[in-house]
This record gives sequence, structure tokens and C-alpha cells, in this order.
Amino acid sequence: MRNIIVAGNWKMNKDRDATQAFCSAIKEHYKSIEAGVEVIIAPAFPMLDLAKSALTPSSIKVSAQDVSFHDYGAYTSEVCAAMLSSLNISHCIVGHSERRQYHHETDARINLKLKKLLEAGLCPILCIGETLEEREAELTEKVVLNQLEACLMDISADEATGIVIAYEPVWAIGTGKTASSMQAQEVHAFIRNYLVNIFSSDTAANIHILYGGSMNENNMQELISMPDIDGGLIGGASLVEAKFFAMIDIAIQTAKTRR
Ligand code: PGA
Repeated sequence: MRNIIVAGNWKMNKDRDATQAFCSAIKEHYKSIEAGVEVIIAPAFPMLDLAKSALTPSSIKVSAQDVSFHDYGAYTSEVCAAMLSSLNISHCIVGHSERRQYHHETDARINLKLKKLLEAGLCPILCIGETLEEREAELTEKVVLNQLEACLMDISADEATGIVIAYEPVWAIGTGKTASSMQAQEVHAFIRNYLVNIFSSDTAANIHILYGGSMNENNMQELISMPDIDGGLIGGASLVEAKFFAMIDIAIQTAKTRR
């Protein structure tokens, strides 16, 4: 049975004090996270080490939001996977639609980043999803399929079990418009089926597929009760302690009913 993952993508929010305060509060509130639930927080690069220290000891994990596709070297402003690993960061988001949109990130580049993360022993959280125009043109499956094919190029079944996929319809990110649980489940099932075809049913059954896009404490329960939705990558609602804690509690309750 897959854990339920509750991952907060803070994007370019929270300075040093705000990161410290949030991490201390969550560590204090969840002295231990119950079985079946995994909580991850993704602060901005300069706050990673601070977040990691503030959350230690606890089972709450820290993720970066991007990584370079290069190793160490003359790449001003870049951060390589080995640097993240040296901070004991366990996860890293790659291919977020904001990186694709504002930084022209391609699937080929995302594939390279993913490989660098796997080599360094980090778990990539690979984001995919269609735009509104693509959904309206009924291209959702085609877009998702192309992204999966290119981003997972030359990844073995063994490596794939160390990857989390986040289906994030671009039209739902930060807009307050969530995909309905049925709409999301349809795409998640399509993704899982693709994973069965290229790897195996066992491998596919072990890969987490998160939903992202205006997930909050009011719609989470319904979304994560779907068979192929294994948690959420949460932006806006993860910035507010009360909302994020409420979402962790929903995941804990849901995990209990699955035991
Ligand atoms: P949102 O962001 O929850 O604010 O829509 C999700 C994301 O971009 O990962």
C-alpha cells in the first residue's frame, strides 16, 4: 500500500524567520507522523539547510524546488544535485510548470535533471500536466503521454520506484480551480497505466502519483480518496500553518481507514 504524501511547495515564499517559525511549529505539532503518511516541505534554496536543521529530529522531509542538470562547475547561480545531497535533502521538484513557462524548461532538460537527482540518491518529484488550451482541445492524454515519454527516457524500472510523479493541470495551479476528483482520477489512472506498460504492474503499483493544483483542506479528502491519487503537491495552502496542518490531519485519517 502506498503512503499518502503531503508535500508543500513554498515556491518563492517565506524568508529565514518565516521558515524557522513554520518548521519549528510543524515539528512541535507532529512529534511523530503516523504510519502511512509522509510529509515533505519544499522551501527556497537559501532556506534548505535551515529547514533541515529546524526539522531535525523529525520524520518531515525537505525538498528542493529545482536542480541543475550539470555537475559542479562554472555555472553561475546553479545548484547541483551533489550539493543538495550534502545537505541531506531527500527530494527535489523537477519540471514544475512555472519552470517550464518562465524558464523555457524542456522535457529533455527535465530528463537530465531527473537522472542527476537519481545518481545523487535524491527522489525527484516530476511535475507534468496540460494547459487549459490543451484540455479544451482534448489533448490532455497526448500531452501527458509526451511528457512522460520524454521525461522518463532511459529510466529503468528500479530507478522509477525512486520517483514521485505530480500531475498538475496548469489551469488549476494557483487559480482556485481544482480538477474534480473524477477528472484527476482519470488522468492518474492513465499515468499509472502508462507506468504498467513501460515498467511492470509491480513497479507501477509502487510509484506515487500526487495531484497538484489548488488543493486545499476542503477538497483534499475527496481527491485522495481516489484509487490512483496518492497525495498532493500543495502550493498556496501549504504556506498557511492551519491549512497545511489540517491537510496533514486529513491524510492521517485517510491512511487509518486504509489499514
Ligand atoms: P497551488 O500550487 O496549490 O497554489 O495551486 C500547486 C503547485 O504549483 O505545485
